[in-house]
Amino acid sequence: MSTTITVNGEQTTIGDVAVHTTVLDWLRDRGLTGAKEGCAEGECGACSVLVARPGTDTPTEWTAVNACLLPIAGLDGQELVTSEGLGSPADLHPVQQELAVRGGSQCGFCTPGFVCSMAAEFYRSARTTSNGHCDHEHGPNGFDLHALSGNLCRCTGYRPIRDAAYALGEPTADDALAARRYAPPPPPAPTSMAVDGAEFLRPAELDDVLELLADRPDAQLVAGSTDVGVEVNIRGVRKPLVVAVDRLAELREFEFGPDEIRIGAALTLSEIERLLAGRVPLLAQLFPQFASRLIRNGATIGGNLGTASPIGDTPPALLALDASIVLASRRGERVVPLADYFTGYRQTVKAPDELIRSVLVPLPLEPLTAFHKIAKRRFDDISSVAVGYAVDVADGVVRRARIGLGGVAATPLRARATEDALIDRPWTERTVREAAAVMATEGTPMDDHRASASYRSAMLGQSLLRFYTESVAREEVSA
Ligand SMILES: Cc1cc2nc3c(=O)[nH]c(=O)nc-3n(C[C@H](O)[C@H](O)[C@H](O)COP(=O)(O)OP(=O)(O)OC[C@H]3O[C@@H](n4cnc5c(N)ncnc54)[C@H](O)[C@@H]3O)c2cc1C
Ligand code: FES
Ligand code: FES
Repeated sequence: MSTTITVNGEQTTIGDVAVHTTVLDWLRDRGLTGAKEGCAEGECGACSVLVARPGTDTPTEWTAVNACLLPIAGLDGQELVTSEGLGSPADLHPVQQELAVRGGSQCGFCTPGFVCSMAAEFYRSARTTSNGHCDHEHGPNGFDLHALSGNLCRCTGYRPIRDAAYALGEPTADDALAARRYAPPPPPAPTSMAVDGAEFLRPAELDDVLELLADRPDAQLVAGSTDVGVEVNIRGVRKPLVVAVDRLAELREFEFGPDEIRIGAALTLSEIERLLAGRVPLLAQLFPQFASRLIRNGATIGGNLGTASPIGDTPPALLALDASIVLASRRGERVVPLADYFTGYRQTVKAPDELIRSVLVPLPLEPLTAFHKIAKRRFDDISSVAVGYAVDVADGVVRRARIGLGGVAATPLRARATEDALIDRPWTERTVREAAAVMATEGTPMDDHRASASYRSAMLGQSLLRFYTESVAREEVSA
């Protein structure tokens, strides 16, 4: 079966390339060398390109992703735009024009990546220049600086880049990429590529994937490929069978019901953020702290739980929210509380023939929640320690408390001893100080390049004190 892709408006065949070939290598081999390789692990954004993805405000949204992490096989039937497709030296795109006239580029290595990330925000359907909202992260034109949080520049400095972003107007009436947003996105193409003994499959339906998993437990599922892509590029992992699940309709369901929220495993962090629109404050606090916009545009919630990493950001938050996950296999479906899901370092109760179908968050939510991420950088960094809180205080007494921890043991875990030290106690500084001392003993933290064990323990206790202080300050403001 021939695999095709539309690049900068022209349909072309993907060709006979190794199934692990990244979008970046594929583009550059075809002479489209605007996108650069700076790190090959999603950290620098030099490889940023635009893909046409399902939108929430318009049928299609131009979405910036890291071309170094995505396999080209995953874009069969899709539409992609590179910096070359946005404009040319004789006819610059508004983003390129603003970067040029405001001194937003020096050596230029990072520039095509910035151009693509900035263009995605330029075309974001919900961006509006008319609301006048302007703060340290948003321009008067509605430009959200988080759009650039995954792009690094070593020589220009970010001020002129930000000036360029804030100078952008609206797309003009004859802008073809703006018009493209109002037509449906390209549907996922069932894909079957086999080259040199390795296969890439994109089955059309969940049942087909479950059949495959039952017959080939060695199959590697891939969703946003923000973890798998790093394994391929940096660790040289080459699985013989890769199965794409990111566009399966059954894994992209979203429902905000009266009793629970159902979040499809293949929804990306960016999509979930838009769909929830702040209705789960704990997650609203998490999203901007999770990697960068470029990564969140690809990274799925199912992939985050699928890695079972002890430093993944969603588990501490979802543990605090008392979430469960739905595991599906040819044998049927089962619901597993997230608190029972992790069994050891990167091990879970998920059987080899199962996949994560969705995440369930029970309602109503606890009134006091927070997500604290302790990392070396404020954005675009992995946690040293992460803590999710969900607490109910009535008449000054703690009625319920759930605390999820990451980065302090081989698995994400609930801080049960701390929860016990809080429940049925008055919500006072004294109680919290005593509970913070307990919290500092939770887990079995270890020393690594991110943080020492003693730092991690100290951060746990500090985090609870901060949570308390923030909750009291909030009460004072609302009183
Ligand atoms: C630069 C960078 C920064 C990052 N920062 C963060 C961060 O701040 N916080 C954080 O938590 N993570 C971070 N990550 C890790 C990564 O982005 C997340 O773990 C992400 O959620 C993975 O989702 P994905 O869809 O890309 O998964 P993939 O890479 O496609 O898959 C990851 C694993 O999950 C499995 N999998 C995927 N979908 C399913 C499913 N439905 N059922 C069962 N298994 C499945 C795959 O087989 C694979 O083993 C970062 C990664 C990079 C490259
Ligand atoms: S090359 Fe650095 S993010 Fe892709
Ligand atoms: S202009 Fe040189 S790295 Fe950004």
